[in-house]
Amino acid sequence: MNEIVAQIGDLADAGEKMIERLRRKAFLPESRKGLNLRFGIAEAAQLLGCSTNRIRMAEDDGRLPPPPAGENGRRVGYTIEELLNMREVLGAAPHRAPLDVPAVIAVQNFKGGVGKSTVTTHLAHYFAVQGYRVLVVDCDSQATTTTLFGFNPHFNITREETLYPYLSIDPTQADLLYAVKRTPWPNVDLIPSNLELFDVEYELAAGGADGQSVLAARFRKLKAGLMDLARDYDVVILDPPPALGTISLAVMQAANALLVPLAATTPDFCSTVQFLSMMDQVIAQLVSAGITVDYNFVRLICSKFDSNDPSHAMIRTVMEQTFGPALLPVPILESAEISHAAMRMMTVYELEKPIGTPKTHKRSKANLDEALSQIEQLVRQGWGRVAPAREEDVLNAA
Ligand SMILES: Nc1ncnc2c1ncn2[C@@H]1O[C@H](COP(=O)(O)OP(=O)(O)OP(=O)(O)O)[C@@H](O)[C@H]1O
Ligand SMILES: [Mg+2]
Repeated sequence: MNEIVAQIGDLADAGEKMIERLRRKAFLPESRKGLNLRFGIAEAAQLLGCSTNRIRMAEDDGRLPPPPAGENGRRVGYTIEELLNMREVLGAAPHRAPLDVPAVIAVQNFKGGVGKSTVTTHLAHYFAVQGYRVLVVDCDSQATTTTLFGFNPHFNITREETLYPYLSIDPTQADLLYAVKRTPWPNVDLIPSNLELFDVEYELAAGGADGQSVLAARFRKLKAGLMDLARDYDVVILDPPPALGTISLAVMQAANALLVPLAATTPDFCSTVQFLSMMDQVIAQLVSAGITVDYNFVRLICSKFDSNDPSHAMIRTVMEQTFGPALLPVPILESAEISHAAMRMMTVYELEKPIGTPKTHKRSKANLDEALSQIEQLVRQGWGRVAPAREEDVLNAA
């Protein structure tokens, strides 16, 4: 190996050390990041769809613990745990009925950098704030989603903790329970990933003549394993790698809904059209091989929309004309708040206070809520339900 090639390894080492330094700065000493979110009573009431009075009454009559007080008796707001308890006590938990099928959403596009991991993590935290039980599965060996959940895939995660032992050609695990990790969010769990998950792709490529049957077995296995786990959740979100490989195919087959993020740019539009056409061919092949693919919904979402850039508006119009109602009407706006949060290995939902101006923060969060609620509605429609009933609506109807 010549000297210049050897530099690549040095660059990687220097990079790894820097990532660990950044992570330590961003997270608590015990190498797990904490969640210091607080919700005021007005926000809690809004999230639960009830009046603040209803919460106060439950606190007064002992159904709920007394309101949290900080120094000088000042209210400090509710933690996410307290919010979840409040939902249970006041009958405002949005969980699916036991016989409703959990939503298993693949956030997929073979184009890299379209916002798959950003959408996956924000969607997970959005659902969590709304009170759903969420499982996120990082199926990408780049492990961006794992990092955004506060784990360093290089130092904190071993191959045995990823999907690998389950999907390997010589599996050492018969179900996926071993891989489920708690996250700082009480109602979000994660199956993490790291670079070694890529070994699954190698193994199958080396599988030779048997490759085809091994492949089919892997597909069925991932689906079966995820459906088994999904019993404890309302929503499972899958972040696959940006390429057509074994894992991607297995994910496409294991999901029961498909969400395709893309930016409003010509390259993203063209790649996404290619992705859809490739998906169409692959699904036809899978079906002819007796492997079923069933989706409750397929939607595209514009994931980095810059409303000040006229070219974005133009491409968005092209997207609307091409995809019609399959394109979700509300795009996710390109926001410095999202990229700044990512720098801290967080989502906007995890920020205790704005990173940029309060206005930028508020705008970004309101937009994310609106854009991601479109997906919540699709999930609820799948369960034969519309939006959770608001107290005012119930009272007005009475
Ligand atoms: N709405 C947004 N506003 C600002 N930055 C964004 C937004 N969405 C994504 N980004 C940034 O764009 C970059 C790519 O996003 P992300 O990693 O989510 O894409 P991806 O599709 O998962 O990429 P890959 O194909 O490598 O897995 C990240 O730096 C992310 O912070
Ligand atoms: Mg990604």
